[in-house]
Amino acid sequence: MSTWANLGLQDSASPLMEQLIFFHDHALLILVMITVLVGYLMLMLFFNSYVNRFLLHGQLIEMIWTFCPAIILLFIAMPSLRLFVHLDEINEPSLTLKSIGHQWYWSYEYSDFNDIEFDSYMIPTNELANDGFRLLDVDNRIVLPMNSQIRILVTAADVIHSWTIPALGVKVDGTPGRLNQTNFFINRPGLFYGQCSEICGANHSFMPIVIESVPVNYFIKWISNKVNS
Ligand code: CUA
Repeated sequence: MSTWANLGLQDSASPLMEQLIFFHDHALLILVMITVLVGYLMLMLFFNSYVNRFLLHGQLIEMIWTFCPAIILLFIAMPSLRLFVHLDEINEPSLTLKSIGHQWYWSYEYSDFNDIEFDSYMIPTNELANDGFRLLDVDNRIVLPMNSQIRILVTAADVIHSWTIPALGVKVDGTPGRLNQTNFFINRPGLFYGQCSEICGANHSFMPIVIESVPVNYFIKWISNKVNS
């Protein structure tokens, strides 16, 4: 999760997020190079006194300043397209989680098992434990196995919501009447926090998401407890 003064991306917990961070850094590097070059050129315009009163055309320089930016854009477009394809890829998921957005909470269904479903509400500040995270902790966490391909299906019951977990690189809109799909692979244990990211109404800020990533045998214990209760 994000902690004090963390203004950048969160540490990744999935291969897709790792790739997204690499792409972000790559694009940022190109952006910085362009900004420095253009800034330098603009600054130099103030400090030189060269003029060319007879300049009417300059085909060569126009070719250069047309094609160079086009090629630079290709260096961003190609990796972007590669990432885009990887983000949409489904690799034989071993588990499916369905999350349904409501005003203002999420409910979850583990459709592979016998009707496991529950609601997940934010814990209000006045009921929060001392080690709890304000506006971020929920009463019922999603428990998921690490090192497994997981498919999530996202929808909503009233207005558009968005199921967003920054550390996993997941952001899917839940739209009434539609079922969206994505998938991820959590590569470490831990708690991963997320929030709704569609402006869905008065309590939009108060429908967080918490994933508890655990080893597979712990997950099996948890799910069999749920099935038997
Ligand atoms: Cu649900 Cu914003």
